[in-house]
Amino acid sequence: MQNNSVHVDLAGRSYDIVIGQGLLAQAGISLAPHFKRKFAAIVTDVNVAKFHLAPLVMALEREGFTTKTVILPAGEKTKSYAHLAETCDALLAAGVERKDVVIALGGGVIGDLTGFASAILRRGVNFIQIPTSLLAQVDSSVGGKTGINSSHGKNLIGAFHQPAAVLIDLDVLQSLPQRQRAAGYAEVVKYGLLGDANFYGWLDQNVEAILSGDNAATARAVKTSCEMKARIVAEDETETGVRALLNLGHTFGHALEAATGYSDVLLHGEAVAIGMVQAFGFSEMLGICEQGLSRKVADHLRRAGLPTHVSDIHLKLPPADAMVKLMYQDKKAEGGKLTFILAKSIGETFIAKGVDEAKVLAFLVKDAAAHGLAKP
Ligand SMILES: NC(=O)c1ccc[n+]([C@@H]2O[C@H](COP(=O)([O-])OP(=O)(O)OC[C@H]3O[C@@H](n4cnc5c(N)ncnc54)[C@H](O)[C@@H]3O)[C@@H](O)[C@H]2O)c1
Repeated sequence: MQNNSVHVDLAGRSYDIVIGQGLLAQAGISLAPHFKRKFAAIVTDVNVAKFHLAPLVMALEREGFTTKTVILPAGEKTKSYAHLAETCDALLAAGVERKDVVIALGGGVIGDLTGFASAILRRGVNFIQIPTSLLAQVDSSVGGKTGINSSHGKNLIGAFHQPAAVLIDLDVLQSLPQRQRAAGYAEVVKYGLLGDANFYGWLDQNVEAILSGDNAATARAVKTSCEMKARIVAEDETETGVRALLNLGHTFGHALEAATGYSDVLLHGEAVAIGMVQAFGFSEMLGICEQGLSRKVADHLRRAGLPTHVSDIHLKLPPADAMVKLMYQDKKAEGGKLTFILAKSIGETFIAKGVDEAKVLAFLVKDAAAHGLAKP
């Protein structure tokens, strides 16, 4: 397969996303121009290290680099103050200087944490994203949102810090567990739902191929997702407007993640899947979109093996009013009012500010009852 490249146009902070196969083995050659000296610090997690750290280190050392690695525990809980401190201190101990480049090798957790550590280390060092989960390849590695979670909510501590480059090697997905692949697929569908009905139509024909690891279908899904994200980020880097559309399903989803303790009970992409179905359901209840669309979206996501309703979560959730409280910690909340991304149709969404809390409550109660749950 030929390599593909997507440009993220951000004036002085512009960069390229290179998508292809066998790229890890060539990383020493392709990434060298980003380095002032042949020294690379790599941050990764234990799972990714098992499969992909040695090939990356070898590729760099073959080109004369010396490398230092920081290996963190895997999982959402790693996006914490404690691991941020650990990472910064380890990078300083490794001798990272102001003009060095840090490599984030991993999923969205490693990318977000390493990006944030890079943003604050010596007041900012460059970093490169080598995303290894489908979610990170189609979403989190692009756009420069970095950060950690707080006990008050997700991603509440962070910075905008663009990577110097993004290297997407589709081969690394071979070791990704199927549940994680499906979770990443939720963010792929998000692009179709939020602004590209044709892409959604294509996904509807190709969901099984992408989930089963078909390279051509996966390459097209990753490239289209990156193109769309690059376009939106170039238009609105710091999310003062259109970039908020990328949060389709996230106001509901982040509350579900908080309620389930950021654990394996519900992965981020799974929370987004349920949240997107809820966003369509809420839009139906408000009379904004045609009835039945939420069911259509749920049917599609189920084909990917994703949960689509709160009743699919194997944990008792807090009551609806407590769920709404969790939503107020969403970064899109403004002036104490909730913001949602709502849908007019598949491929057409908009930002709804100042949404009435009573309507959200009514929706959550109705949505739970529709699936035989008393109250969430
Ligand atoms: N910055 C952004 O714009 C943005 C966008 C979307 C999501 N996010 C964040 O991304 C995070 C979720 O990312 P994620 O789903 O990649 O989670 P993750 O980083 O926890 O990775 C998922 C799991 O897969 C493992 N893994 C990753 N790549 C692997 C591989 N190739 N082989 C084997 N195992 C592998 C990891 O070790 C982990 O256990 C969340 O914290 C979310 O908030 C950020």
